Amino acid sequence: MEKVHFTEEKATMLATLYGRALDSRLDNPILGDRAADDAVRQIDYDFPKLGLTGERAASVVLRAKPIDDWSAEYLREHPDAVVVHLGCGMDTRVYRLDPPPTVEWFDVDYPEVVELRRKIFPERANYHTIGSSVTDFGWLDLVPSDRPALIVAEGLTMYLTPEGGEELLRRLVAKFPSGELICDIFSRWGIKLQKINPVVRKAGATLYWGVDDPREFERFGLDPVSALDASEWATPEVMAKVSPVTRMQLRATKYFPLIRKMARIGRWRF
Ligand SMILES: C[S@@+](CC[C@H](N)C(=O)[O-])C[C@H]1O[C@@H](n2cnc3c(N)ncnc32)[C@H](O)[C@@H]1O
Repeated sequence: MEKVHFTEEKATMLATLYGRALDSRLDNPILGDRAADDAVRQIDYDFPKLGLTGERAASVVLRAKPIDDWSAEYLREHPDAVVVHLGCGMDTRVYRLDPPPTVEWFDVDYPEVVELRRKIFPERANYHTIGSSVTDFGWLDLVPSDRPALIVAEGLTMYLTPEGGEELLRRLVAKFPSGELICDIFSRWGIKLQKINPVVRKAGATLYWGVDDPREFERFGLDPVSALDASEWATPEVMAKVSPVTRMQLRATKYFPLIRKMARIGRWRF
């Protein structure tokens, strides 16, 4: 068992890992991430204390699923891509998507997080981890810059400062010949109301960067392709799998624009 002592934003990735583990234990899971459950069983940590149980666990996999689907689509079209998975935490996306060895994959998170990943998850061909803050930009030199890039960041942007996040996007767009960014964004209301999120509150994390409109990234050379608000995350197939309470909540969000636009998943091309 690996004992861990993460706090603040680093602790939040234990909550999302646990959310995926809980989903995988269901008879009819959305993501079915068995590796997440195996990881949880190897980590000595009081996972439920972060408040991610029941319906809240569903929100983790509801967010991960469209990000997986869009990422898989990009990799089908670009089997020579470089993937930069920012703020990867303990996410097993590389194992879920299982890209061909022609894809070079980089998982980036703080050194302590990456150290835990290395202890728990197996190595694989053309898969690399980089232990660095995403805004200490020296890490970018470790990634090849001559191939199309898929940049994925789930549950990361809101933890960055606007200045740090914007500089990161500028540098990523400048580095690669072309690519796609897939990430979730919180609205400025979402940032203001951050303490209603039990995971953020219990981890003692702070959210900074709010983005109200995906078009705000146009000034960094990123063209919006799609954006899903919370009422649009679940496809009909996924909707059939969620609990009646989650289904009701998802349907209800349609009538509350402020709430449904608090967290969006977007896709941009450059
Ligand atoms: C909510 S967790 C999401 C983790 C993972 N993407 C997932 O969905 O399970 C936020 C992650 O962002 C990472 N993070 C936050 N700020 C970061 C930074 N400046 N540099 C690198 N990682 C960062 C944290 O360490 C944590 O792993």
